[in-house]
This record gives sequence, structure tokens and C-alpha cells, in this order.
Amino acid sequence: MVEPIAGSGAVSLSPLLGSDVTDEYVAWLNDPAARQYTEISGTETIASVTRYIDETNAAKDAAIWRIISDGKAHVGNIRLSHIRWQHRRAEVAILIGRREHWGKGIATEAIRLLTEFAWSKLGLHKLTAGILAPNVGSRRAFEKAGFAVEAVLRDHAILDGAFCDVLWMVTLSTEAGRP
Ligand SMILES: CC(C)(COP(=O)(O)OP(=O)(O)OC[C@H]1O[C@@H](n2cnc3c(N)ncnc32)[C@H](O)[C@@H]1OP(=O)(O)O)[C@@H](O)C(=O)NCCC(=O)NCCS
Repeated sequence: MVEPIAGSGAVSLSPLLGSDVTDEYVAWLNDPAARQYTEISGTETIASVTRYIDETNAAKDAAIWRIISDGKAHVGNIRLSHIRWQHRRAEVAILIGRREHWGKGIATEAIRLLTEFAWSKLGLHKLTAGILAPNVGSRRAFEKAGFAVEAVLRDHAILDGAFCDVLWMVTLSTEAGRP
């Protein structure tokens, strides 16, 4: 299911393997700014991240890619999870690790590439993403890649000790002219 996904621009996706884990990559996951709106908890280590990737790659309902910028730098990851083949839907999550790579359109392009792959190669029909309401950058990246808010899940998560809404964002293959 996981194969390289090339784009026409500077961003491409490549399968993420346990052997790709470096100290720098683990450091992104432990950076409070990068993880604040994610479900990452506890201190990550090379061993814990390698195990997570190996489990994801062994699963039938998940897949994960490295986000590559300018043909060489591994700047983040994008994942499909909760793939329900019988319903042709899956959930997308993304993380751009280093702050100097934020705001350059990388997430938008990575979501676009994965969305097109989901329609054309995986035959999916619906992609969803759950985004904590204060995560303005993530909402905007998903919107620019074609997602729209389908529902507001009230008090669906706890952020810094307070309940927080989650935006349920969705895109459909038919909106892109696909079956
Ligand atoms: C949220 C995240 C994925 C955005 O990635 P990115 O590559 O910076 O996003 P893009 O450059 O494609 O930006 C998309 C849009 O959002 C805007 N944006 C990005 N970050 C923003 C922020 N913190 N505040 C306001 N707008 C922001 C950009 O300006 C752009 O909009 P524009 O073209 O209208 O100017 C990235 O910051 C990240 O990985 N953060 C940590 C992990 C995380 O929160 N993941 C998402 C969990 S759902």
C-alpha cells in the first residue's frame, strides 16, 4: 500500500521505515511546540518511535510516509490511519517537525499529494482529519488541500487542562471528480 508519491513541486512522499529514525526526528516529537496539538504523549525515544513505525507498517489499516522537501530533507511525516476498506474511508494526520519548515506550504502540498494517492491508487472515497480548534495552521493547510469542516466535536479533547473542541474535517473523492 505504501509507495513513493512524487509531486510536480518540491514536496514528495516516501515510505517511512523504522531504519529512518534519527535523533533529530525523535527530537521533533519531543518538541513542545510541534506536539502541542497532537496526541503524542510521554517522552519518545529511538526505540519507541521505531516500534511505532514498524507496527504501523505491519498494520492493514494504516500507512505512513516521510515528507521530503527539495528531494532530500526529511521534514515531517504524514499518515493514514483507521482505514476502513469496506467504507472506503481513512483518517489523515500530519506533522512538520522543524519550525523553520513551517509556513512554507509543505503541509498543504503533502496533504494534496496523499489525497490524490488515496483516490487514484487506494480507491478511497472519504478522508477525515480531527484537528484541535486552536490549531489554526493545521486547519488552514487542510482547507487549502480541499478539506472542509463537517462537524465540530464539542469538548472532544483536553488541551492544557481545559476541554477543547475538535474540528472534524473531511474531503470526498467526488469533490475532486473521482469515483
Ligand atoms: C500545522 C502544520 C501541519 C502546518 O504545516 P505548514 O507546512 O506550516 O502549513 P502550510 O505552510 O502548508 O500552511 C498552510 C496555511 O496555514 C497558514 N499557517 C500555517 N501555520 C500557521 C499558524 N501557526 N498560524 C496561522 N496560520 C498558519 C499558512 O500561512 C498557510 O496559509 P496561507 O497560504 O493562507 O498563508 C505544522 O505547523 C505542524 O506540523 N505543526 C505541528 C504538528 C501539528 O500540529 N500537526 C497537525 C495535527 S492535526
